[in-house]
Amino acid sequence: MSQAPSPVPHHVAIIMDGNGRWAKSHGLPRIEGHRRGVETVRTTTFAARDLGVRMLTLYAFSIENWKRPPDEVGALMGLLEYYLKQELTTFVRDRVRLRTIGRTDELPAGVQQVLRTTMEETKHFADYTLVLALNYGSRSEVVDAARAYAAAVAAGQEKLNDGSWATFSRYLYTADMPEPDLVIRTSGETRISNFLLLQAAYAEFVFTPVLWPDFTKADLAAAIAEFNKRERRFGLTSEQLAKPAAVAK
Ligand code: FPP
Repeated sequence: MSQAPSPVPHHVAIIMDGNGRWAKSHGLPRIEGHRRGVETVRTTTFAARDLGVRMLTLYAFSIENWKRPPDEVGALMGLLEYYLKQELTTFVRDRVRLRTIGRTDELPAGVQQVLRTTMEETKHFADYTLVLALNYGSRSEVVDAARAYAAAVAAGQEKLNDGSWATFSRYLYTADMPEPDLVIRTSGETRISNFLLLQAAYAEFVFTPVLWPDFTKADLAAAIAEFNKRERRFGLTSEQLAKPAAVAK
């Protein structure tokens, strides 16, 4: 895989973490942290686009998040529905395409309905895409992909012996998406937490101590500046990168 060097990562993915700690540090209930986190979702969506990013994926609700206290899960679903209803006009006005990855068919009916409407109304926008990872987990994604791939083999649509990454990856939720170039995690944690495990195989990672509700455009720009200092070798040597013509295909 070779890519022209770009000053701005095409696809940035963010593990938004630290809402609870932000709330605690302000003496507020956890849900207030999530509410502030939604504001940061709004500002970051437009900050990324202003900085030249073409696709932004946000880890908004993991499969594991269902294990949180029921009132917190309910509040997060309520916030998500409210956010999507509020943003529809903004997305249409500012030409933001919305899509999702994850088992969205297990989300509350109201959330599914507003997701469908928003995705339908924004599907023609090609310049900038916001991807919400909802009820997402990499391991479940692989299980779903393996199941769909096996069904395609059984139906004679795929040949088992032709199995390659190029073929199999078409069964992931991210089939028609570019891989993330940069993955950011906020709040000082340095884990990947079942997020885009396969797609981030060659991504650069930036971990920032900033809690998600405090994350600003300047923090995003700093992460992009850090990304630009890295040399992405995709398994090659620095010398090979300097002379791409010499690399065996
Ligand atoms: C982690 O903070 C954050 C989440 C559980 C997911 C992010 C959710 C939002 C930003 C709000 C809803 C999103 C949308 C798109 C409307 P945490 O609670 O784990 O923080 P902590 O580790 O400090 O407790």
